[in-house]
Amino acid sequence: MNTATFDIAVLISGSGSNLQALIDQQQGFGYRIVCVLSNKADAYGLVRAQQAHIATRIVDHKAYDSREAFEQAMIVAIDEFQPKLVVLAGFMRILTPLFISHYEQRLLNIHPSLLPKFKGTHTHEQAIAAGETEHGASVHWVIPELDSGRVIAQESVPILADDTAEVLAKRVLTVEHQLYPAVVAAIAQGKIRADDHSDPLTLSQLLHKVVS
Ligand code: GRF
Repeated sequence: MNTATFDIAVLISGSGSNLQALIDQQQGFGYRIVCVLSNKADAYGLVRAQQAHIATRIVDHKAYDSREAFEQAMIVAIDEFQPKLVVLAGFMRILTPLFISHYEQRLLNIHPSLLPKFKGTHTHEQAIAAGETEHGASVHWVIPELDSGRVIAQESVPILADDTAEVLAKRVLTVEHQLYPAVVAAIAQGKIRADDHSDPLTLSQLLHKVVS
């Protein structure tokens, strides 16, 4: 397989553990990370990118007067690399239709819940407080409405009796690190398209689709 034809950009704001999973699995999965962009100069994910010899860009939202001006600067930085997909991996700014429409059908997000349950933040606390027995992660296309685009894949984990939000978050992250690279691979390999309308895939269904 040609491993260098499907270029992606990854947007982060923090630790970047999902970015690390995407880096670690890119060679076998047939996509290539060409740029990591952060809105925070001290995001640890930038170190991960540099260690993997991936180009980095910092676009600090605090340097702009409006969300639109910030997003326009991000668009310029990202488009220098001509990515086929823009992957949000713990990117903690709300995006406006300006950015979202520019990358229509090319913009992915991972969210730590079994969408449509528990949109927004503090999803682990919300799931425990609601008395759920299962929680998980979802990868979805991004549309202007928050955490509401079509879900491509999701995988669940159990919620155990003595779970804290921190313990549960770690369990969900282990699933995120498998799910996100596999979804990107399936898109890179043409197995999933933005105009598909199939039900969300589980991790095992997804892994059957992709060639590694
Ligand atoms: C993950 O839980 C992801 O689902 C959410 O933000 C978190 C990012 O974690 N969107 P990391 O920076 O990838 O470690």
